[in-house]
Amino acid sequence: MQSDELKRRISAGRGDALADLVLKNARIVNVFTDEIDTADIAISGNSIVGVGAYHGRKEVDLHGKYVCPGLIDGHIHIESSMLCGPAFEQAVLPHGTTAVVTDPHEISNVAGLEGLDFMLETTKNLTLSVYFMLPSCVPATDLDESGAVLNAEQLRPYYGDPRVLGLAELMNAYGTVRCDPKILQKIRDCTEAGKIVDGHAPLLSDKDLNAYIAAGVQSDHECSNIEEAMEKLRRGQYIMIREGTAAKNMEALMPLFREPYCSRCMLVTDDKHPGDLLDSGHIDSNIRKAIRLGADPAVAVKMATLVPAQYFGFKQRGAVASGYRADLVVVPDLESFTVEQVYKNGTLVAEHGKTLKPAPLDIDRVRFSHVMDSFDLDEITLQDLELRESGEQERVICLNRGELLTEEKIIPFQRHPGKAPGVDPEHNIVKLAVFERHHHSGHVGIGFLGNFSLKCGAVASSIAHDSHNLIVAGDNDTDMMLAGNTVRKNKGGLAFVARWTGRGRTCAPGGRIDEHRKRRERCGENAGAERCPQGTWCSGRHRHFYDPRLRQPSGHPKTQTEYIRHHRCSAAESRSGCFLIGDNKNTAGDRPEWSVSGNRTVRSYS
Ligand SMILES: [Fe+2]
Repeated sequence: MQSDELKRRISAGRGDALADLVLKNARIVNVFTDEIDTADIAISGNSIVGVGAYHGRKEVDLHGKYVCPGLIDGHIHIESSMLCGPAFEQAVLPHGTTAVVTDPHEISNVAGLEGLDFMLETTKNLTLSVYFMLPSCVPATDLDESGAVLNAEQLRPYYGDPRVLGLAELMNAYGTVRCDPKILQKIRDCTEAGKIVDGHAPLLSDKDLNAYIAAGVQSDHECSNIEEAMEKLRRGQYIMIREGTAAKNMEALMPLFREPYCSRCMLVTDDKHPGDLLDSGHIDSNIRKAIRLGADPAVAVKMATLVPAQYFGFKQRGAVASGYRADLVVVPDLESFTVEQVYKNGTLVAEHGKTLKPAPLDIDRVRFSHVMDSFDLDEITLQDLELRESGEQERVICLNRGELLTEEKIIPFQRHPGKAPGVDPEHNIVKLAVFERHHHSGHVGIGFLGNFSLKCGAVASSIAHDSHNLIVAGDNDTDMMLAGNTVRKNKGGLAFVARWTGRGRTCAPGGRIDEHRKRRERCGENAGAERCPQGTWCSGRHRHFYDPRLRQPSGHPKTQTEYIRHHRCSAAESRSGCFLIGDNKNTAGDRPEWSVSGNRTVRSYS
């Protein structure tokens, strides 16, 4: 900063000179003391220069509305919003998010360094501050078949980028505590660069947890119960309380929303689907929920502002105080926490749910050609889906609602008329197939999925943490084949199939927002299939399927990124839609069976 500018700020703070902007009559959420102060906020340039009684060249009377620091999401995979940087900004900035720390784990597992570069490039000129943690696990495990492998040497140069804050969610906790040299090299590169290592170690405890922390891992966002969180907190880790689309841990961790724990805990989303961003918001939604569950509003705000700012080393951010960055959120009351205005660097950037100057989206399609097109898979045949093993029992991987952890069950082998062998519709057990789609290997894994509320038909998705291979779940092979081939044909996305629809129709996935809303009303999370055909596929369970591929699934000549640019659409408009397909015109082929992949199980960490 030039000395003239510094003098200008000091004299404005002293009250001897007019500030550039004064927000008059504000109720300020003081995240240092958990108090509410009533005062004016004086801003010069991009900084707050005083809190008290001030006059400015421009004055805005807030009439007693509340002002909080700009909200920070300390851990999110932007790809899971299915939006490119500028569209993501449009979705979150009006909700008060002024900074995010993102891990491009998903897109890097598909497109390697090109995916990482794509995320850096498409977020560099935004109003929203976008910081990066480098993807530590590409692939997520050595059992997985991802689109790329990123080693320490490839990641090392990125630490020179000031937007790169460290190494992201070290999910290979097993390898870390057993000194896998590839992982240790990544940790050493990060710590030698003076940066942070984020953790990801569900249910890790006792000496293994000690060893994991000793390796330099400073946080965890996988705690699903209070005992686990307290153990990690006691041992010095920051806890990221996750409340996103698929995983919801806040309720279990509510005891952390008070002193002394709250000063080491922050609110994160991890993954937020576009519909959720549209309907419920971003970190503001997490604050609302915390308040609803009994948290002191000032404490909840602190956990979404000051704490992440301190953890990530954002100097003079995360508070409404002199010398702090003028990233501010105005809400009429703390209970509803409805964001009315958002200031970034002292400038009003969003108001009443809209960004005032949407950023343009320009993609170098030659440089990022693999990001735009990475689906390499032969047409799926019934033979690919054949179950070639038999026995008295079957292994089922069961989902847990609101959690990423799954459970293994061994049950008697199921046989029901009209269903694929092993499927039990009464107990929500469907068949699951995973098709490797990056390297044309022909690998297919077959298994069974429990607690999946598909009533009939099939759902296919290339949105599949972590490697984003093609996953198909269904109760019969024909529908599974059709669903899988639809995604293949569209080079990514989602497809839903049910035989009984006859000759089906395709819903334009980038359809009008009112269509999305109507569909949501018809097929709400609790709506049964009997109320509408789509209800079969629109259940909340399908939130386990999502994709960073940024592709328009079908019926639209443009990629999703183009669509966003042309229509400046909101988050929900870019969501993938439903596909109902009744014809089967595929032929048989022959490929070897391989192994099931794509599930995260408790067993992986034991
Ligand atoms: Fe994550």
